[in-house]
Amino acid sequence: MAIQQPSRRAFTGLLTSGAGLLALSACTPASNTPSTAAADTPIGSPSPTVTATSASPAVTPTDVAATPLPSATPSSAAAPRFSLTDPTSPWVVVNKHRPLNPQNFVPADLVQPNIRLAVSGEASLVNSTTAAAAEKMFGAAAAEGVIMTLASGYRSYTTQVATYNGYVASTGQTAADRASARPGHSEHQTGWAFDIGDGGGACSFQPCFAEQPAAVWAKANASKFGFVVRYPWMFHETTGYFYESWHLRYVGVEAATDMAARGIATLEEYFGLEAAPDYL
Ligand code: DAL
Ligand code: ZN
Repeated sequence: MAIQQPSRRAFTGLLTSGAGLLALSACTPASNTPSTAAADTPIGSPSPTVTATSASPAVTPTDVAATPLPSATPSSAAAPRFSLTDPTSPWVVVNKHRPLNPQNFVPADLVQPNIRLAVSGEASLVNSTTAAAAEKMFGAAAAEGVIMTLASGYRSYTTQVATYNGYVASTGQTAADRASARPGHSEHQTGWAFDIGDGGGACSFQPCFAEQPAAVWAKANASKFGFVVRYPWMFHETTGYFYESWHLRYVGVEAATDMAARGIATLEEYFGLEAAPDYL
């Protein structure tokens, strides 16, 4: 799979006009805290039996490949096909141990996908590869009667500052760190991730979203379109975040379907990386 870099539907102007629109509402709102989140698991609850390195990794992460190595395959390669550190790579792993580099990274190919939008401005953007995959996925879901909306896409470093600070102000830092990434540590800044909503807006960003048709469908089908549910149920000790049934991350069809087939829930485990429950 090649990384596409088309310039179609570029919405550069929205970067400024939309900045801050979702400052306090994006991704995981304050209501999704351990004390109120029925579908979440509190800190200290049983953690998954697998660890980031307990299964044989799909690839050997060297973190040095800045460009695709097309001869390798994710399940058998001695080196990754795509970089795990370059934010333009579909395999970049961003977590509490792995900040974006550069910290102020802005995707060069942000576009607004042709899907149902619940937001405007920068939050309606994703990178071009993710946009194309999202269009296919939303179309397939609609064909099966499931309506999805784009509830939060790209978030700049500056927006994440406001988002994270909003969480800290309303829930305190400990709870905030289980729901919202610190600036420079959010997948939303890469352009490879977005949050979905339900057609009716039910349970948006709340634990009960996991039971909504959009989330149920995405959990079962997203891998066919190259997406993973990045923060799965009960893996907060690996990912650092409580279950976010709405947060999808593009990694490509090959990796996503391989993860699904092998029952590997997190990118940390898939790539043989250490768990990142907390900031270093
Ligand atoms: N809610 C996810 C972890 C983020 O803030 O990027
Ligand atoms: Zn998200």
